[in-house]
Amino acid sequence: MSVFSNPGRGKVTVPELLQRKLPAADSKNQNNSNPAAQKITCLTVADYPTARLLDEAGVDVLLVGDSLGMVVLGYDSTLPVTVEEMLHHTRAVRRGVKRALIVADMPFGSYHTDISEALRNAVRFVKEAGAEAVKVEGGERRLELIARLTEAEIPVMAHVGLTPQSVNTLGGYRVQGKTSETAEQVLRDARAVEAAGAFAVVLEALPRELAAQITQELRIPTIGIGAGPDCDGQVLVTHDLLGLTFGPAPKFARQYANVGEIIANAAREFCADVQGRTFPSDLESYHSGKSEKNSGKISIVG
Ligand code: KIV
Repeated sequence: MSVFSNPGRGKVTVPELLQRKLPAADSKNQNNSNPAAQKITCLTVADYPTARLLDEAGVDVLLVGDSLGMVVLGYDSTLPVTVEEMLHHTRAVRRGVKRALIVADMPFGSYHTDISEALRNAVRFVKEAGAEAVKVEGGERRLELIARLTEAEIPVMAHVGLTPQSVNTLGGYRVQGKTSETAEQVLRDARAVEAAGAFAVVLEALPRELAAQITQELRIPTIGIGAGPDCDGQVLVTHDLLGLTFGPAPKFARQYANVGEIIANAAREFCADVQGRTFPSDLESYHSGKSEKNSGKISIVG
């Protein structure tokens, strides 16, 4: 398979994303002819080849999400993920991306103790790993943190609703904002992160009506995951989209491919070919002496 870059499309930046905030009146219009108001696409990524493929496919925002702890590293939750692990994956992603905006998730514990430490950690994502923005979970209680990061020239994507790093407080991964009191809290959270300077906000696992209301009200783009179709953009965990996870996928995760099955079948065929002595063939072998064409100039990949 070959991939082609998208030469006609420019680098995605924070100001460009802000311009793409759907005007409230147009947000339900599928045939919106204003190119500046196109929906924002965002996928998670953790490695170089996937980053290249997603970038060249035209995804706007690549999120090095701490969900990589679960889908790539095999942890039970995102809580054990460390700053060093996130930096390692962000660097790999950086090497594969030309156009998309790279956002790195700050892992649990890296911004919860004190603001100076949070700032130092966020600076590492930009300086050492090439992230162009960071994401932090939480609403009202992150006001000061988001303001300080923004002042330090680090764009912040906020994340409200179901915040997976709060799994122990929330008592599980549940839809948020279903009652009028909890919906009010999510609204306050969304308003707070905008007021603090976030350039975008992820809305996770919310009733679509609430997500639509927040999207109408805020001036910054909303990126939904399990929050219905009216957000300014959508994000999915790439491993869900590719069918590369184990166990049932969440209701909102549309699976576009079954890469898990492709990998398992390829591995089974390889094992069968080795056992059946059909791999490697003579053509897939090097030869010694005169029988080798272009002797002495053979590339090991040729
Ligand atoms: O870590 C992650 O994948 C995320 C998305 C669910 C938005 O935060």
